[in-house]
Amino acid sequence: MKVLVYGSGGRDHCLADKYGDSQHVEKVYFVPGNPGVNYTPKGKRGLIERVPIRDFREVADFCVEKGVDLVDVGSENPLEEGLIDLLHERGIRAVGPRKEFVKIESDRAFTDDLLTEIGVAKPEYRVFDDPQEALRYVRNIGYQVVVKANGLAAGKGAIVCDDVEDAEAAIEQIMVKKIFGESGNRVVIEERKYGTEISFFTYLDGSHVLPLKMFAQDYKPAFDPDDEEAIRQFGGNLNTGGTGCYCPHKLVTPWLVNRIIKEIVNPTVNAIYNRLGWEYKGVLYFGLNLDPYNNLEVFEINVRHGDPEWEVLARKLSSDLFEIATAVVEGRLDTVKQAWNKQYYVDVIAMEGRSKASRGWNKGYPGRYGKGHRIKGLDKIDRGIAIYFAGVDEHPEKGLVTYGGRVLHVVAGDPTLEGARKKAYDNIQRIVFEDHNNNNTNCMRYRKTIGL
Ligand code: GLY
Repeated sequence: MKVLVYGSGGRDHCLADKYGDSQHVEKVYFVPGNPGVNYTPKGKRGLIERVPIRDFREVADFCVEKGVDLVDVGSENPLEEGLIDLLHERGIRAVGPRKEFVKIESDRAFTDDLLTEIGVAKPEYRVFDDPQEALRYVRNIGYQVVVKANGLAAGKGAIVCDDVEDAEAAIEQIMVKKIFGESGNRVVIEERKYGTEISFFTYLDGSHVLPLKMFAQDYKPAFDPDDEEAIRQFGGNLNTGGTGCYCPHKLVTPWLVNRIIKEIVNPTVNAIYNRLGWEYKGVLYFGLNLDPYNNLEVFEINVRHGDPEWEVLARKLSSDLFEIATAVVEGRLDTVKQAWNKQYYVDVIAMEGRSKASRGWNKGYPGRYGKGHRIKGLDKIDRGIAIYFAGVDEHPEKGLVTYGGRVLHVVAGDPTLEGARKKAYDNIQRIVFEDHNNNNTNCMRYRKTIGL
């Protein structure tokens, strides 16, 4: 079988890698992909081929020409832009929700109202289109909030606030300065919750649901909590698209999985199929919180795998992804059995740190970061460690270079969490991003507390 994975980030590289593990798959096209696939030590070179086309019509033509059996769309933007709808029109089998169903991720207010109507627990929230009204609200309620852009924002659209001043600043940033673009025309202001975040993934096939009985935890803040000096210099511990991840999450137990399915997944999926009448096929990702009083609440629902959660869950999943994806397309998820290996996995993300700019300095991700830094040390990575590339490019002389804030994932597995951490950290330290403006010193940065 030939599979095409549409995407270019770490999650998409990992999807391509996971399809490459399938006994049914002889070829994976990674479109538009990233050049990292040709450099990874666990590269499945030849099996995974990058095809740098972007235009949806060209992608559909390519699928017809090459006889692609299945397309998987990894991220929310092409889903929202209607890639699945176009592929279906051309008779190409594809995994992912149709454009109109992406609303469940891209319109938080719509989803929050739906969850409230069906009695699924979520933090108290209010929706605002007017920044003045939003400001009045946060001043009146006084308690800590999270200010969220209503539209898509690459997993970064939520600002967690310590106090009213923070909330005022967040409203200004999102609604007035439009740091997340038009997604900031409307905000959802939600009560801030404490507890443990859980990323819980399910697959839907239009009439059944397959909840993955395993979950992971993402590390969103840019810096380790005890890295006070860096946080001070940076001007705060901003949320990122994720700096690392581990699984199994410390809270994975059959009773909690059952609770999540009963309290959250089943009523939501029932509402999708029967209240909204959607024939939803693809991933449905529940971003949850378990608070200190044992309340389970929904922070958000997404239409794709989480990044970097997928990078660890995919390694732990022993089931064949091609078989799951085919069952999604054919409406047979009730026949699929899931299996997990016994390992722990840790993903540490190598980010662009502080680097020298032509004038002054780049603060590094999630602030302004440099690009074009040569990536060295990949040849020193141990066998069995997966490298998934995200923000990379290829330079005619330098070879693989950095191109984004989150550059690559180092994913290690081991029978113990400590062992997986040790392997991930031992290996990431062999990688260098050469800062060409600063005597080729290493401008890579990573968090040290992933999995703790
Ligand atoms: N890990 C957060 C996200 O994928 O949105």
